[in-house]
Amino acid sequence: MSLASPTAGRVRSWFSCRCDRKGESVFDHPEFDGHEQVVHCHDESVGLRAIIAIHDTTLGPAAGGCRMQPYASEADALTDVLRLSKGMSYKNALAGLRLGGGKCVVLADPSTPEKHALLHALGRHVQSLGGRYWTAIDVGVGPADVDVVADECDYVFTRASEYPAGFDPSLFTALGTFTALRAAAEHVWGTDDLHGRTVAIQGLGATGRDLARQLHEAGATLVVADIDRAVVSHVVNAYGATAVDPATIHAQPVDVFAPCALGSVVDDDTLPAIGARVICGTANNQLAEARHGEALRAAGISYVPDYVANGGGVIGAAARIYSSPTLDESRAAVARIYDTTRQILTRAAAESRPPSDIADDMARRIIAAAR
Ligand SMILES: NC(=O)c1ccc[n+]([C@@H]2O[C@H](COP(=O)([O-])OP(=O)(O)OC[C@H]3O[C@@H](n4cnc5c(N)ncnc54)[C@H](O)[C@@H]3O)[C@@H](O)[C@H]2O)c1
Repeated sequence: MSLASPTAGRVRSWFSCRCDRKGESVFDHPEFDGHEQVVHCHDESVGLRAIIAIHDTTLGPAAGGCRMQPYASEADALTDVLRLSKGMSYKNALAGLRLGGGKCVVLADPSTPEKHALLHALGRHVQSLGGRYWTAIDVGVGPADVDVVADECDYVFTRASEYPAGFDPSLFTALGTFTALRAAAEHVWGTDDLHGRTVAIQGLGATGRDLARQLHEAGATLVVADIDRAVVSHVVNAYGATAVDPATIHAQPVDVFAPCALGSVVDDDTLPAIGARVICGTANNQLAEARHGEALRAAGISYVPDYVANGGGVIGAAARIYSSPTLDESRAAVARIYDTTRQILTRAAAESRPPSDIADDMARRIIAAAR
């Protein structure tokens, strides 16, 4: 598709240097990390309020999903987008993709009847960036929604219409996490055979449910929790899992804890109760703060950095920015997460450092080498 002019119509973006908290600028923000561009997007006619953050484009155009949620404040949205876009730079670098890191947040309830109008308006803003940022699915924005964004924009991936059955970003994410979990098991127990291993899964949505299926087929015993009783019943019936109270899932006496729902699950309150030797799940931003990486190491828990464990989605889906991979080719690319995970955990052990720090170092080096 083509548009008459990227800045036509109601598109009005500006480099942002402001947020809700008095006296605080983007440049002084604790999550600011030399981001190349931060754009506030507004469309009065539909009430669009969104922020696009482009962290780094050294490796290629910034790629990362669009999240829609009713943030309590613009400051919260800014914090989220700055943090998530940096995470995408690191995730894409370690995944071996020729892509930089970016992210978009829309300050709205995803159940709003105005969702299509918001997505169209957002599409015009993304288009106005001329391909510096490619958008995709995230929390509150699914594959069918990004097809709506694509009505107004060329720079969209993870579109529902691009995926034949089974070719689904969430399934690539679950496959990547399963792969990382096997590599972590090999590192900790000397074998990636999961027969007899116990895994506690927090969250049984698009990714957690498929991870449960793969773990069950690999012979693992499952303990699960979700706030949605229907999905819990499904997994209990289908895979013989044991359901527990969501408030206690992190504290189960299991081999592996797989956070597949929320961010910040490892914090000062939860960490002392974690019973697993390995943490490996699909959720983004699992550590409440970077220092919890060292706290996990000190507690003898092997943590697979979240953006390594959940890199399968972008690996499988973003290849379509450059090519038209088959399902098998995408699955083969996701399988490389095994070696990346082993490399990170091996180095972390050798250097007595948290795997999260090692992964950050490796990603930064990949980006620096390309400069
Ligand atoms: N979908 C992807 O491809 C992908 C890629 C990378 C990262 N992630 C991350 O993985 C996580 C899960 O993604 P998803 O696509 O499976 O989301 P989803 O919305 O499909 O599923 C999340 C599940 O977690 C449950 N949940 C919410 N709060 C909970 C709680 N307190 N305790 C237990 N369960 C709870 C929800 O009921 C839901 O079933 C998110 O953090 C997401 O950002 C997803």
